[in-house]
Amino acid sequence: MGAFSTAHANDPYPSKPITMLVPFAAGGPTDTVARLLGQSMSKDLGQQVIVENVGGAGGTLGAGRAAKSPNDGYTIFLHHIGHSTAPSLYRKLSYKPVDDFEFIGLVTDVPMTIVARGDFPAKNMQEFLAYVKANKDKVTYANAGIGSASHLCGMLFMTAIQTDLTTVPYKGTGPAMNDLLGGQVDFMCDQTTNTTSQIKGGKIKAYAVTTKTKVPSLPDLPTLDKSGLPGFEVAVWHGLYAPKGTPKLVIDRLVKSLQLALKDPVVIARMADLGTEPVDPKRATPEALKKHLESEIARWSPIIAKAGQYAD
Ligand code: MLT
Repeated sequence: MGAFSTAHANDPYPSKPITMLVPFAAGGPTDTVARLLGQSMSKDLGQQVIVENVGGAGGTLGAGRAAKSPNDGYTIFLHHIGHSTAPSLYRKLSYKPVDDFEFIGLVTDVPMTIVARGDFPAKNMQEFLAYVKANKDKVTYANAGIGSASHLCGMLFMTAIQTDLTTVPYKGTGPAMNDLLGGQVDFMCDQTTNTTSQIKGGKIKAYAVTTKTKVPSLPDLPTLDKSGLPGFEVAVWHGLYAPKGTPKLVIDRLVKSLQLALKDPVVIARMADLGTEPVDPKRATPEALKKHLESEIARWSPIIAKAGQYAD
């Protein structure tokens, strides 16, 4: 544990528990990464990292809360690719994704999977695509709201098959998975951090992964790129932030703790079980995260404009 002083020599940081805000419901993929990371960072920091879920509006409610949180080092914020797509999806955001945050570092890049309820009438991706197109007015698709990764993947999927489908939004794909397991919704595109255990448990059907290479922990799943939607690719990068104005000395301490967590064998093993891995610790830096976020905002803007999906 690094005893560390901020304003006063006898005021080591952190001197009390830290809140890690997560902009989606408990039990989903973002929550899973947050709890895994928080547990490891707690060991180094010597204080609890307590996850607080603030779901809604595809992650933008939580991001707005994080932007307005005290910048004293006791609130940090874990978000994913949705932090870069929100500015293109929402005409009015209550926060500025770049200017309202300090950057701690990149965390992980998670593959996604096309999964369906256990009795969905398709044996493989080809049959899945045929069924969805033939039943486009009936099939329902779950996501975590406009701005979520599951929304982004769904938007790319619907654009690729040139078919609009009925979307059922949730506060996260944790709750969405419950309805998929219950057969209340037909399919979704969700991160391996949320789907792996259900796929291995045989309770849902899985058809493909959204990365260009297969996922070692799900070796039977083909890539979408090679099973019906050539060129289809999306993965969900995650970054750790703090509110603007959080002191640099605190950010430096948090960067050190993040980099240690990404080398933690417990984190590495758990992420591998869930189909992902930590980023190279050299990318767990404020500069790498800021640069990546800015490039992703620019990258997704024309793609989203073309797909024409806007929220007010
Ligand atoms: C997403 O689609 O962005 C995820 O579902 C978020 C989550 O629930 O963790």
